[in-house]
Formats: sequence, C-alpha cells, structure tokens
Amino acid sequence: METIQAKVSKRLLSKADRLFTGTLDGRIIEILQNARRAGATEVTITNERGLVTVRDNGRGIDDFAKLLDLGDSDWDQAMEEAEDPAGVGIFCLAPRKLTICSNGKKIVITKDGWTGKPVELTEVGDSGKGTVLTFADEPWELSQVKRHAVFSGMKVIVDGKTCPQEPFVSSRAALYPELGCRIEVRGRDHLNQWHNQWRGSYFCDTVMVNFHGQVIKSTYKPVTEDLVFLVDMTGDPTGIRMMLPARTQLIENKAFKALKAAIEKEAYRFIQKRGSHALPYEEYKRAAELGIKLPEAEPTYDVGTLSGDTPEPIGVTMPKDFPLSKCYQIGQRLLDEDESCDANIHLLAALGQFKEPFVPVSISRIYDGYSWAKLPTVDKVEVKLGKELRQDYLWTQVLVAVQSIKITAHTSGGKVFESGVAMAVLTPEVTERPWGGSDRVYVTPEAREQLSTSDIWYHLGGWSEDGDTYETQEYQVEEQLEAFWSSIIGPGEYLRSKISGSVEGIKGSWDKVTIDTDRTVVITYKDGSEKTLKSPYIARKES
Ligand SMILES: Nc1ncnc2c1ncn2[C@@H]1O[C@H](COP(=O)(O)OP(=O)(O)OP(=O)(O)O)[C@@H](O)[C@H]1O
Ligand SMILES: [Mg+2]
Repeated sequence: METIQAKVSKRLLSKADRLFTGTLDGRIIEILQNARRAGATEVTITNERGLVTVRDNGRGIDDFAKLLDLGDSDWDQAMEEAEDPAGVGIFCLAPRKLTICSNGKKIVITKDGWTGKPVELTEVGDSGKGTVLTFADEPWELSQVKRHAVFSGMKVIVDGKTCPQEPFVSSRAALYPELGCRIEVRGRDHLNQWHNQWRGSYFCDTVMVNFHGQVIKSTYKPVTEDLVFLVDMTGDPTGIRMMLPARTQLIENKAFKALKAAIEKEAYRFIQKRGSHALPYEEYKRAAELGIKLPEAEPTYDVGTLSGDTPEPIGVTMPKDFPLSKCYQIGQRLLDEDESCDANIHLLAALGQFKEPFVPVSISRIYDGYSWAKLPTVDKVEVKLGKELRQDYLWTQVLVAVQSIKITAHTSGGKVFESGVAMAVLTPEVTERPWGGSDRVYVTPEAREQLSTSDIWYHLGGWSEDGDTYETQEYQVEEQLEAFWSSIIGPGEYLRSKISGSVEGIKGSWDKVTIDTDRTVVITYKDGSEKTLKSPYIARKES
C-alpha cells in the first residue's frame, strides 16, 4: 500500500519572515515573550546607531538549534501546557542580521542563515546571565514598548527609562483554575489608560484577554449592559488557545465555550453585587437559571406614548411622586387596530384638562414579565371633531383646522379620560384617503397660540434628512403655518397678532406704543416717560 505523510517543506523557511505582519509591535511582542518564557524578570532595551539590543536576565538558550528550527520549541512541559508555543516567534526578525549571545555562545544569523544555510556557533567565554539579541531595526521607543510591557509582569527598561507595570485585574477577579485564568467584570468606563490603549473598538472589544502582556480582544455580550470582561491568564495549564503565530485572535474551541460560560456567570454576579439593573426580563430569568437571584429591573419607561427628537413631540408631564402603577399603557389590541392611537393618547395627556392625572407611559416589550411592567391599559380612543374650517396639504401631511376637538380614552379599569384639546391626528382608512397615504392632523384655532411650530411639525412629518438644515426646514414650516392660520383667523386678526406680537420685545412697563408713517415708534411708559425710536434712515435725512 502506498502511503503519504504530512511534513513541513523547507520552502516554508524561505517565507518565514512573512508569517508575521512585519510590524514593530509584532516584533516587540515576540521578543518580550521569549524573555518572559525564559524566566526573565528584567529586560533592558537600548537603541544605538540603528541597532537595537535586547538583554534579558532569563535562564539563557540551551540549544541554539531549536532557536532556528521553525516549529520547534525548547521550553518545558508546563510552558507547553500553559502557553502553547508555536516555535516560530524568532522568525519575526527575519531576514534581518541578528546576533545572539547566551550561555557563553554566540551566533550571527544573516539573510541566508534564516532560510537554511548553516550558521556558525562560536564560544565567547562568559557572556553573563540571560540572553542578548542585537539586530538592525527602527528605534524601539519607550512610547511604543510600554504598552507591551505594562501587563507582562517584567520590569522593562528602554534607554534607561523604566516602563510602568500594572496588574491587569484587581483582587476582585474570580479565579477559574480549570481555565488557567482570572476574570474581572468592569463597567466600560471603569478601565484604566493601559486597558484603554489596547482597546480598538469601544463597542466591540468587550472581552480582553491578557496573554502575559499581549492583550487579545474579542466580542461577547452575554447581557444587555455595557460591560467589559478582563481575562488574566495565570500561567497555569489552559485550553484557551490563540490563532498562531501572532496570537491576535482567540480560537473558538471547547475552552473558549467554557470561558464564555464563565464570563456570563461573572456578568450576572457583577450585576447582583451592584444590586440594581435594567436588564430585559429574559436575562433576569437566565440569571435565575444560573442560580443567580437578581432583583427585578428598575422600572424603566418613558412618559408619554410618542418619541423622537427631530423635533420632539410635545411633552407629557408626570406629577412629582406619582406612582407608575397609576399610569397607563396602550393596550395591545388597540395598538394593532388604531394606527394613530399613540398620537391621540399622547396629545390627550399633554393638552387635556383632568380632575385626576392621566399619565400614559411607554415601556419597552423587553420588560414584559416584570411585575412593575404590568399596568392598566387604554383600550379605546375616540376623537370627536367640530366643524371643519379649512384644510391644506402642509409639509408631508394634511392639516385640517376644525372648530373643536375632543379626545376620549377608555381604560381597562373602567375609567374614562375625556377633554377638549387643540390637536389630534387621524390616519384615514386606505379607501378614503383623498391625499394618498397622508395623516390628517387636526388643530383648533386655539392651537395657534397654544402650540409651538415644532409641536405641530412633529405630526406633519418632522425634519427630513434629505432636505435643508433643521432650522431652515423649521422656518419653512413656520411660514406655511402662518399662511394657513391667516386664512382662518381673517386678515384683520392676522395683522393685529403680527403687530402686537412684536411688542413683546419692549422692556419695562409700558402704557402705549404708537407707530407713524415714517415707521417712527414712540413708547409711552406707565410713569409718563417716552421713548422715541426713529429709523436710522429717517434720522439721517432729518439732520
Ligand atoms: N530569550 C530567550 N531565552 C531563552 N531561550 C530562548 C529565548 N528566545 C528564544 N529561545 C529559545 O528559542 C526557541 C524558539 O523561540 P521562538 O520564539 O522562535 O519560538 P517559541 O517561543 O518556542 O514559540 P512562539 O512561536 O510561540 O514564539 C524557544 O523555544 C526557546 O527554546
Ligand atoms: Mg517565542
């Protein structure tokens, strides 16, 4: 029987320098990692005339052959189980000329040496403890080395200056011996500057694994809250593996699944310790399944049944200390049947007058299940309109002025809230839509004084992203509204309100304001004094 067998081709050697991305960060990581694996507690880096020298106080190199053996390592069994060395790291320096002194021996690896040409090993007598590497590179500046040194557990000195050393996690971290790591949960804004400089994406990098100084990021969000999970490898045997050779990504193996399960538990424990939360009901139940009893989520709701911010709908207020249990939600059936029920319930609450408060609220469906999220409902809404005064296509809907509007809301508790209001919205049945799919926004003449442009604009479609700036569009709506009102209130009242509107700018208590054909304004104050305001043009002509 013919057999074949997997093997490593020598051709790979000639491409070994491309196993790495060729970045300076990558080289710093690999060389610091080797020093640490050799048991070094201190690494000294010096930059001099285009050469970088890295000296460690580790146990030194026993077998130089292993160094240049692509894929082989000479660390002990414990290292094998904890760190899974790949035996390729030193090739990040290929094809540079590299001199290594260790344990009284020295080699100089040149271009060909990296791809298989025999390299001479010379005796140098006493070379001191540890290993010294010298190679040509751009300067290894402190600013770039320190992020790789800070969590490495070693003292690293660059051109005489010591890099900061910090623990990756605090004493609050929970130990997971079977995974060879400790896990600490933090709020996304509770990381220090060293964690943050490793974080690429503020939103995605939710898991940060400190692999002895090198931080590998991953995305896992077991709960709906902005948490970051710090995983600090202890150096004990672990099944957690990273993609080789650069270790920039976690491998999705069995241990990774176990890590995710541990992270999920820690997330809920973190929230349990803190006490309060706003988690969806599903996650509250999941915590219970994991044996972690949480309190119910803090009541989370918006007052009113409309939302949006370009522009905002008119505000609904909740009296101080008013209990949520006395508020109303829109009943599901009503929501399904009546397209404009949310607008009319909101407008009734915002504009109506009641003996006892009518406060509708909106609660996200994710909270369904919590005891506080079950409220009495509004099950029916009626809108009664007075005589129509005028209608016009305005902005993107139809604006209709009517003599009066009354909205009535029937609730599950049998209570009825009814009031006259200045605005309501109706979505016509498809068959009776003379203006296409537009809503009809109804206003009474009082709306002109009572409501702001944006209160009405909200229901007319609001700001359009495809058009002008917000202010410009708002101004356009205002103009159109003015024209609309002028025809309802009559030209006399329109003129009166225009002129009288401008006296609001006068300070002090005045008695009378006159204006003559020259546009000269005379203000007579209550104390008898007078102020004359002439147009500058007229004033110049007179002098
Ligand atoms: N600073 C050092 N001190 C002692 N031995 C070293 C040092 N650097 C490298 N070695 C030896 O050279 C071998 C090869 O190093 P290399 O970085 O290429 O691979 P590795 O560290 O085993 O695996 P990895 O691919 O994960 O880096 C190591 O296994 C180790 O025996
Ligand atoms: Mg290595």
